[in-house]
Amino acid sequence: MKKLILLLCLLPLSAAASGPISWTEIFPGVWKGVAGEPEAYDLLRAAECEPFASALEGLERTPFPFAQTEVRAEVVDGKTYLRFPLRREEQVYGPGLNFQTVHQRGKILGLHVDHYGGRDNGRTHAPVPFYVSSAGYGVLVNSARYMTFYVGTAVRRDARDAPEARDRNTDPAWTSRPYSDAVEALVPANGVEFYVFSGGTPLGAVERYNLFCGGGTLPPRWGLGFTQRVEKLYDAAQVVAEAEEFERRGYPLDFIGLEPGWQSRAYPCTFEWDSGRFPDPAGLTRQLLHRGVRLNLWVNPYVSPDASIYDEILPHTGTHTVWCGIVPDLNDPEAVRIWTDRLRQGQVDIGVSGYKIDEVDGYDHYLWPDVARFPSGTSAEQMRQTYGVLAQKVTGRLYRQAGIRTFGLVRGSNAGAVSLPYVLYNDYYSHPDFITALVNSGFCGVLWTPEVRGSKTAEEWLRRFQSVVFSPMAMINAWSSGTKPWSFPEVAEQVKYYAELRMMLMPYFYSEFARYRFHGTPPFRSMALEPGFRSDPRTDTGSRDLEENPYLEAVTREIKDQYMAGGCLLVAPMFAGQESRTVLLPAGDWYDFYTGLYAGNGEEITVEPGLDRIPVFVRDGAVIPFIPPLLHAPGPGEKVDIEFRHYGRAGGSYLLYDDDGTTFAYEDGHYSWRTATVTRDARGELTGSLSPAEDGKPDTVGQVTFRFMTPAE
Ligand code: GAL
Repeated sequence: MKKLILLLCLLPLSAAASGPISWTEIFPGVWKGVAGEPEAYDLLRAAECEPFASALEGLERTPFPFAQTEVRAEVVDGKTYLRFPLRREEQVYGPGLNFQTVHQRGKILGLHVDHYGGRDNGRTHAPVPFYVSSAGYGVLVNSARYMTFYVGTAVRRDARDAPEARDRNTDPAWTSRPYSDAVEALVPANGVEFYVFSGGTPLGAVERYNLFCGGGTLPPRWGLGFTQRVEKLYDAAQVVAEAEEFERRGYPLDFIGLEPGWQSRAYPCTFEWDSGRFPDPAGLTRQLLHRGVRLNLWVNPYVSPDASIYDEILPHTGTHTVWCGIVPDLNDPEAVRIWTDRLRQGQVDIGVSGYKIDEVDGYDHYLWPDVARFPSGTSAEQMRQTYGVLAQKVTGRLYRQAGIRTFGLVRGSNAGAVSLPYVLYNDYYSHPDFITALVNSGFCGVLWTPEVRGSKTAEEWLRRFQSVVFSPMAMINAWSSGTKPWSFPEVAEQVKYYAELRMMLMPYFYSEFARYRFHGTPPFRSMALEPGFRSDPRTDTGSRDLEENPYLEAVTREIKDQYMAGGCLLVAPMFAGQESRTVLLPAGDWYDFYTGLYAGNGEEITVEPGLDRIPVFVRDGAVIPFIPPLLHAPGPGEKVDIEFRHYGRAGGSYLLYDDDGTTFAYEDGHYSWRTATVTRDARGELTGSLSPAEDGKPDTVGQVTFRFMTPAE
């Protein structure tokens, strides 16, 4: 008996395997690590994204960002424990779409797809398990499980760089959260694969991640116009009247979003037009298209017992319902076929331009519980983590099959969805937090719109509107408020000015999205990804140690209320009630977007723009393409005049992207990049020129003019 007890004591409590990590460099600066036995289903497999191999192969080889041996993995008790090193001077951005904070060092995040609940705790619409270090690398943990990330919070007994134990009684430097030298992740699986992206700079790391996931999405040109979502019970006549009113009042409009009432039943959905409100959907779509306006349809994927596809799809759905609707197993090819055929027939095939896929995020009380089962064998947990991505993928394919691009909305996403044509939104409505989400979206390969719904005052309305035009989707979502751009007459003209500005900037945003597609550069991004912002030249002591050099701006100073809209524009939104604000300008000369006047260089400035303006600044030498304020995006092949506006004193150039604006022909090389160059001649005069169109390549550029915004000294 004694022997048996002894033997039992010697046995480990649970099996632990600290096997080696197998590393492979799969592209220049991209390494894959494998620990234990990874599961067959993970985030990248769910997204089925193909790396943009030719772009990645063309990149410079960058060294592994730390000693590979510093990454540790152990499989204990059916879970994988991962550890990555963190140096004193590093800041961590991401993982996931956070709304209130940009700096994540010191956070414990339980990554879980969910509706945002007001706290940056890992439960969010896109809890992408990819973090970016200010030291110029990123790490992706490719698991579709609920994972916990300890981002520089926990201190190990064997820490390489352990904090000093201090006496709380006497030492004012004592802290309840001592410094930690690691990011640790707990993955509830017997193994996992992970990726290290070494970019040289944080932006370089993000670009590699985005290219690895296929490169960014390239919206159709019209996707970058203005969109209005109408009240949920609007009928066809009201929709047409709305489009007419936009035109009559001279407000741009590219697509109208129909909310749940286009369907005969919703929550759960039939995916069928309501024949009373919409007796002739094909006629309506045609009529609107004729006016240059497209339609986007709201859905959630939960199938109503009244839906014509109910019986057929039933065997291909999960065990649990959502609002009494059955849940298509989007990993079951039959479920996908039945659902997407339903969307194709009488919707995509009559010209509906895209979808808004709602309710694929949370809450726990709405969605299937973690005890649900799905016919494909995907666990409920993995389904929750990937359902939004699957919905984007299968609806995106409908358009790919039709040979035209779409640009829609979705409320849940995850890693791997970079090239899927969707923008995230939610029901939360804090304007400052919406901007912080926009800042963070660029760290995790997703797009985010700070949609405008309603407002208490004209001031708030205008402030929200001014920032949504500098975002991936310029949208009013009036599904419940019924608001229109002109709803606040006091500011209707200012709103119109910004709606028109959005249209004028279409070639700029289109080219910035092309950079997302071809180079992985996020079109909307944090200041922490900007060159010239990694340290403040006047106060940098040169040390890379945070304790010695607290002025490493991007590392120590959390900037969550200003961002870059493309490579040239620094946007600093104003919030209702604010009369002035500070703006941090990176190193280099910056100029006012509206006047071209000098604004500052590597410094914090205070601006008082008045209600009419959202502060926007432009880099020295920037050249920005503008078109006239059209009411709708130009059609395929339509030539439009371009005015290139140059800012500052330095010469400069802009790479203008062009293609047919709607199809996938660009994937076969049917696109062009043309260079607009501004130089200063011997007499000090600025002159501009645009490189000629290439033979046989798309060319939609009409008359070209140059305007020099900064007054001569
Ligand atoms: C919500 C969604 C809103 C609106 C509404 C319609 O779930 O977030 O934007 O579409 O449904 O019922």
